Amino acid sequence: MTGHDAFEQVRLVLEEGERAVASAADAAALAAVKSALLGKSGRIPALMEHLRALPKEEKPRFGAEVNVAKKRIEDAVLEREAVLGRAATGGPREDLTLPGIAPATGSLHPITRTIREVVRVFGTLGFEETDGPEIEDEFHNFVALNIPEHHPARDEADNFYVSNRRLLLRSQTSTIQVRTMETRRPPLRIVAAGRVYRPDTVDATHHYMFHQIEGLAIDEGLSMADLKTTLLAFVRTLYGEDVNVRLRPSFFPFTEPSAEIDVEFPGRGYVEIGGCGMVDPAVLEACGVDAARWSGFAFGLGIERLAMRRFAVPDIRRLTENDVRFLRQVH
Ligand code: DAH
Repeated sequence: MTGHDAFEQVRLVLEEGERAVASAADAAALAAVKSALLGKSGRIPALMEHLRALPKEEKPRFGAEVNVAKKRIEDAVLEREAVLGRAATGGPREDLTLPGIAPATGSLHPITRTIREVVRVFGTLGFEETDGPEIEDEFHNFVALNIPEHHPARDEADNFYVSNRRLLLRSQTSTIQVRTMETRRPPLRIVAAGRVYRPDTVDATHHYMFHQIEGLAIDEGLSMADLKTTLLAFVRTLYGEDVNVRLRPSFFPFTEPSAEIDVEFPGRGYVEIGGCGMVDPAVLEACGVDAARWSGFAFGLGIERLAMRRFAVPDIRRLTENDVRFLRQVH
């Protein structure tokens, strides 16, 4: 046999061998192919017999080629074993007693959970849930709430107008006070939660879109004491009996007197969670409620602020980014 034939033999054994390995149909067939190629008297070892006949200078290259062919066939056998499955190699089968992998289920967003909890707590205090539209007209967002034309709160720069100052994305859920009084007769006690929009610069505690829960109670003889009792009961139910709360005198066009509600946050001091007050008689009258007979209190609380204390969230932006690594931690 010439040197050329010897090299040709290597090529042939490799080509046929790879084909035989790839077409082995099961573990037994593969074992037979493997032995016929790589076994002691297999075709690969047999190639070495050509070595003797080769000229001295060809021997190292021939040896190297045989080794390459051997390695490629070994790799092909391993690959085929993997394809035929672990059972084909006689390895261990799946352990059917191992626990399964539970599917990952989603969960409610912390804002949704906070809204539901807050609505539930006010429910125990006798407040019914209602709602209103996110796109409002100037009457419900401003006029009926004692915020007349040219009031700074109506500035183009402070609101998201959608049509020539007539319609806007509501800047507060107080709109729902108006809608409720327009359609229902007192006595009434309602809460309504939803999104509000203001072109604020986003930082750790402000966002241009956030959520409020509005509360309104109209009855005969309601006073500031009822307002305070209600808010205190709410905050204590939510955060525990020992939470520190304070009302700070403030001003809102639709309440008189008005106050801001501060709650102590662990490690952060008092944080404002919303506004409240006795409904201004002008608002009652604008909504067709007889202010001589009825009085009322109202409040509007920031859901994000409540959620941040509840779940110890340091930055409001975490609540809108929807990063699942964050959401998985908030429980
Ligand atoms: N609407 C006010 C705001 O967004 C919050 C508020 C204050 C609501 C006093 C009320 C209230 O119902 O009585 O800043």
